[in-house]
Amino acid sequence: MNFNFTEEQLAVRDAARDFAQKELLPGVIERDDKQQFPAEQIKMLGELGFMGMMVDPKYGGSGMDTVSYVLAIEEISKVDASTSVCMSVNNSLVCWGLEKYCTEEQKEKYLTPLATGEKIGAFCLSEPEAGSDATSQRTIAEDKGDHYLLNGTKNWITNGNSASTYIVMAQTDPEKKHKGINALIVEKGMEGFTIGKKEDKLGIRGSDTHSLMFQDVKVPKENRIGEEGFGFSFAMNTLNGGRIGIASQALGIASGALELSLKYAQERKAFGVEIAKHQAIQFKLADMATQVEAARLLCIKAAQKKDAGEDFSQEGAMAKLFASDVAMKYTVEAVQIHGGYGYVKEFHVERLMRDAKITQIYEGTSEIQRIVISRGLLK
Ligand code: CAA
Repeated sequence: MNFNFTEEQLAVRDAARDFAQKELLPGVIERDDKQQFPAEQIKMLGELGFMGMMVDPKYGGSGMDTVSYVLAIEEISKVDASTSVCMSVNNSLVCWGLEKYCTEEQKEKYLTPLATGEKIGAFCLSEPEAGSDATSQRTIAEDKGDHYLLNGTKNWITNGNSASTYIVMAQTDPEKKHKGINALIVEKGMEGFTIGKKEDKLGIRGSDTHSLMFQDVKVPKENRIGEEGFGFSFAMNTLNGGRIGIASQALGIASGALELSLKYAQERKAFGVEIAKHQAIQFKLADMATQVEAARLLCIKAAQKKDAGEDFSQEGAMAKLFASDVAMKYTVEAVQIHGGYGYVKEFHVERLMRDAKITQIYEGTSEIQRIVISRGLLK
């Protein structure tokens, strides 16, 4: 493993840090409070090349590596995890899957506007009765010759309303179980496709999470990704990369909490000295910094393996499992270090603590990560 970042990677990190401080920090508390999607900020991220970071420039992307992506997501997540989840889903679950598995025609039509940030994408796998158990898809894509007839409901869809392009997994041949699932590109505005209720969430409140309903939606055959029955494999392979994005988000939430705690501990006085002079606080900071660094190394290792074209599914799952636990544990510690101030919104750590929880749930719960890791170990 190489721990020395290139000049280009550092420049990407610095640009993301700069953006987060200037464009995200000022309104982040209000957006969280009002559950307001960061539409303007996402548009700016698109202009800066952050919405299709790893996509080939011939499709409108920035052609960067996954390590740069990890560094950028960490910086954005330190300040605003609602923005970073939109960015992560668009980059990892939508653009990456489209670039890897779609035809030239599909890429031209759908990938380019997503990679430039002109449009936003959503990845639709979860259902009311199929969360972790993703093979149990109830959404049906009936084969009607030149099109599929799509019927069903998807739940907890990130970018649910702000997206224009949706990748929807649906069952075509239940007898074949997961090998009967297709991945279809569905456009907003297709007849019979409606956006359902917006979820009122504990954290990442600025991101728009919706249920989606499909009633006799005619999806042309040319919108299927890959061969007939490739949908589940598409979803699994795409999620492997998505987990690096969410691991980096968790890392950013944790390192944001660390930075805020370091600053506060050197300003706040108690018993006549800055609280950073008390060993009780020093030990917390030391543990936090050690765990954050370990999470970062796991994220970078997974990213480097992906960039080298090697199998990274286990490393991605390890990074997500570890970083999300670090985010949860140490945002709670950050609130503790801040005392009463930590419990109010203006000091940011209570939001980081609320945002951290979802990283242990979406793109596979911590239990799912353990399944992926143990299967890799035992195969
Ligand atoms: N990578 C590639 N392929 C994989 C895979 C992986 N990590 N995990 C499983 N597969 C493949 C298997 O090889 C198998 O393929 P074959 O039949 O061709 O051999 C196929 O998938 C089925 O695998 P299993 O028999 O192991 O299926 P299972 O039902 O026992 O378990 C699972 C599969 C790993 C638990 C899977 O259901 C899973 O990952 N569940 C979690 C789903 C998830 O992460 N949902 C998140 C929703 S998306 C989201 O949150 C986005 C957002 O908005 C933020």
